[in-house]
Amino acid sequence: MPSISPFATGNRSNKGSDLCMKAAVITRYGTPDVVQVREVERPTPKNNEVLVRVRAPTVSAADWRIRKADPFIVRFFAGLLRPTKIPIGGMEFAGTVESVGKPVTRFAPGEEVFGRTLFKLGTHAEYVCVPETLLAMKPVNLPLEEAAAVFFGGMTVLGFLANAKIRPGDRVLIYGASGSVGVFAVQLAKHFGAHVTAVCSTANLDLVKSLGADEVVDYAKEDFSAAGRVYDMIFDTVGKCSKKAARCWQTSSRLNRAIPSRLCIARRAATRPTPSSISPGIMPWILS
Ligand SMILES: NC(=O)c1ccc[n+]([C@@H]2O[C@H](COP(=O)([O-])OP(=O)(O)OC[C@H]3O[C@@H](n4cnc5c(N)ncnc54)[C@H](OP(=O)(O)O)[C@@H]3O)[C@@H](O)[C@H]2O)c1
Repeated sequence: MPSISPFATGNRSNKGSDLCMKAAVITRYGTPDVVQVREVERPTPKNNEVLVRVRAPTVSAADWRIRKADPFIVRFFAGLLRPTKIPIGGMEFAGTVESVGKPVTRFAPGEEVFGRTLFKLGTHAEYVCVPETLLAMKPVNLPLEEAAAVFFGGMTVLGFLANAKIRPGDRVLIYGASGSVGVFAVQLAKHFGAHVTAVCSTANLDLVKSLGADEVVDYAKEDFSAAGRVYDMIFDTVGKCSKKAARCWQTSSRLNRAIPSRLCIARRAATRPTPSSISPGIMPWILS
């Protein structure tokens, strides 16, 4: 079939057929209205790929950053003038296997799965093709909407906490605890046995408490760096607390940062018996 460009607006003979699908196309860089629902060519699974009917995608910080070309570097991989290389947003999804390419044996049509597309994006569509290595069976007790939201925040946080070598008993401050990164940071830090102080807005205090934070600080009313407060680790998901964070260190800190990123995690050097090298921690494909 002739390919239907996501950027084409005229009539095409295949529109409305089974070879097409609806997708939210980023027609150019800009405000949310540049995203338009259009009919585009439905992808076909190649070798080792799985075609999934998307039933729950997410909209993450990466999506609006690509839509706005913010930071500018987005244009180098998505397209200089408009996002021709990444015309459809969405990095994560949950859905149902529609068909599989050869020689995929781990998945079969009808199974519920969840996964991510990394920098190919494309989950804001009725169907998406992904390598089987980026796919997992959806746990039966996890609703589609919750499964879809695991990767962007959850995988990022796992990478950061592992690189910062979180340990039971650590006093961890999570700044920006209510976002997609923050909610996983709170839960995973608790899972690893840390004492968690979480900073968020008034509206999200109850949400963050319900995730298990030991202490919750409303950034509009209270200063987390007030006298006497010391943390072993500070995880800043917002990029706004570095000066205040410095007040909480008794010794120099080791910083672990994704580049370019506002996201960083720091651990007091004195709490680590042997200093190890600073590493970016997570996949460079994720934007700040
Ligand atoms: N480098 C990487 O690998 C990577 C991966 C994932 C995300 N990121 C980046 O990490 C950042 C956070 O991502 P996200 O997905 O968690 O974003 P998000 O879901 O939009 O959450 C933003 C968070 O920032 C908080 N916040 C906003 N303004 C604040 C302020 N003035 N003071 C304190 N907190 C404030 C919000 O809290 P309230 O709503 O309670 O105010 C919320 O918790 C983004 O810049 C994203 O691009 C980077």
